[in-house]
Amino acid sequence: MFITFEGGEGSGKTTQVRLLAEALEARGRAVWTTREPGGTPVAEVIRRVVLQPGETVAALRGARGLPAAQPTIDPITPIAELLLMNAARAQHVAEIRRRLAENTVVISDRFADATLAYQGAGRGLDVATVRAVCTLATDGLAPDLTILLDLDPRQGLRRKLHATRNRLDDEALAFHERVRAAYLALAAQAPTRWRVLDATQSPEQIAAQIWQVVGSAGSAGGSAGS
Ligand code: TMP
Repeated sequence: MFITFEGGEGSGKTTQVRLLAEALEARGRAVWTTREPGGTPVAEVIRRVVLQPGETVAALRGARGLPAAQPTIDPITPIAELLLMNAARAQHVAEIRRRLAENTVVISDRFADATLAYQGAGRGLDVATVRAVCTLATDGLAPDLTILLDLDPRQGLRRKLHATRNRLDDEALAFHERVRAAYLALAAQAPTRWRVLDATQSPEQIAAQIWQVVGSAGSAGGSAGS
């Protein structure tokens, strides 16, 4: 079974990924938790480039013995962002397929829906193009279940004030509102795959709701889907 978590910044996905993995493992299931962008060594390097390009360039310069002072770098363009997210994804998909073939439950903190929300709605790239690039990267792999942790972006961004920030956290509130609306629209279009949960609840309440969904999807009973 392939389960993905989606949501805006500070929606608590990472905690829920961990709690669900622990619950499944406690019932004897093999689980691989992963994230996007990232999930394989090469994809994690692409993550650093796309989310923290300034720091990555500075670190590479340092490794080559160049002056540590951070150079001014060229901004990542929206198209480069789309392609980098999907370059990382193509690497990740190969690994996900390998794990699924071993009957491991794969739980990913974000997947291709994030590109539709962030690069499609957030950046305003042409949605048909975004979908085509994602289809190329996923090679037809789609989650069996997607949990959307829905939260007002004002609240989510406040939660992240003291956390490590990435380039996208610093986008305007309107950007994050478009992302939220896009996620809700995606969920409404495919209600059998998506479950929308209110992320203002306590982590324990959310985890219990997720467990109800995953249990009823059959994974807790040991019958992993494709
Ligand atoms: P996160 O680990 O906090 O979720 O950070 C990942 C960031 O990358 C988040 O700001 C969303 C962004 N992102 C995209 O813009 N497009 C994508 O396709 C993915 C997977 C993530």
